[in-house]
Amino acid sequence: MQDRRWPTYPPRNITLDAAVPPDDGGKGSVFVTDTAGQVYLDAMCGIGCLPLGHGHPDLADAVRDQMLRLTAAAGTLWTEPQQALVGEIVSRDPIPDGRVFLGNTGTEVNEAAIKLVLRATGRDVIIGFERAFHGRTLGSISLTANPAYRKPYVSTLGEPDDRFARLNVARASYGDLDSVGRLLEQYRDRVAAVFLEPVQGEAGIYPASREFLVGLRKLCSEHGALLGADEIQCGSGRTGRFAAWSTIVGDDPTLAPDVSWYAKALGGGFPIGACVTRAELAEHMVKGSHGSTFGGNPVACAAALATLRIMDAEDLMAKAGAQLETLRAIARESPHPRVAELRGLGSMIGIEITGKGDAPANPLGDLLQEEGMLVTVCSGKTVRWLLPYRCGEALLRDAWSRLCRGLDRLE
Ligand SMILES: Cc1ncc(COP(=O)(O)O)c(C=O)c1O
Repeated sequence: MQDRRWPTYPPRNITLDAAVPPDDGGKGSVFVTDTAGQVYLDAMCGIGCLPLGHGHPDLADAVRDQMLRLTAAAGTLWTEPQQALVGEIVSRDPIPDGRVFLGNTGTEVNEAAIKLVLRATGRDVIIGFERAFHGRTLGSISLTANPAYRKPYVSTLGEPDDRFARLNVARASYGDLDSVGRLLEQYRDRVAAVFLEPVQGEAGIYPASREFLVGLRKLCSEHGALLGADEIQCGSGRTGRFAAWSTIVGDDPTLAPDVSWYAKALGGGFPIGACVTRAELAEHMVKGSHGSTFGGNPVACAAALATLRIMDAEDLMAKAGAQLETLRAIARESPHPRVAELRGLGSMIGIEITGKGDAPANPLGDLLQEEGMLVTVCSGKTVRWLLPYRCGEALLRDAWSRLCRGLDRLE
């Protein structure tokens, strides 16, 4: 079949067809078939969108019920699923008494966070980090580090001025508080916010330390800058708590970020995003300052609500939180010489591969597909697994042995 999509993604020789129902009594599948009938262990999961796996029947029921009850509503109107979801998010997010904007994607709620911090502070610089990924729309892409994604759209302060749009972004080094402090001094009253991923995903799975996050909180407060946590990939339960911030920092409300935003796993596979901030900051988003036709759609909200309730009922966040340690034990038992490091938090797992050149892991996308496993490779070096939260020892052993078989064939 001819691919008539924009050629924005590298071609992969696979057309996915359907999920394979689990045979272990659990709900939600991690195995899928392609149109040729080949079965794969899906460690990509829509790049982290399937905390329940594919086809969880209770989620499907919730979506179907809401679709038949009320399918869409203008953003000016309240619906019950929307209000219930906002309540659930506020009760789980670290920001006390939060206020929520609902959108459809990660990048859309990242944009909401950008607009909010610029309006709330009247300042024009946001500090972002090396290796950061925040999305692909123009505001989000300014904060995204990889120049290959940014060019020819936007540059950051200090870079050659060959860009089309301006959002002033200064770039600090992840984990290095001094580099942030220097930029806060250099741009002083211009810095609206510091934005970061509590666990960097696209870069290759790098968790922040508690010391770094608490230090950022202190620096931002001292300089009147806001602190924003992009929880799109690491949030919604993936690290063991609803927010990765809470997993790393704990529950002290005085250490909470000022803005945090979620997407990906929040909807259980259904598109939805949410940006949370304190009530007094939300006041700056006056009528007409932002909006989204599909944001807060009742079906998407019902999907997210059902996802959260299923996570609670099946204790899935705790299971997600245990994955990396279980994998470490398996790797200790059956190590592979090409694995340089296992990094991550909970079910956000990065496996760094050694080898010649800058991108030794790149062939693994195709090699592991031949071994019946779908993965993404980040920055040429790290295999990323974003498995459904319920995946435990048996599944991780299976995934590890497929990985090792692929590594055996890696040049
Ligand atoms: C940390 C982070 N922020 C933002 C985004 C963008 O989300 P979306 O692709 O839903 O726009 C992603 C997507 O990978 C992400 O990992």
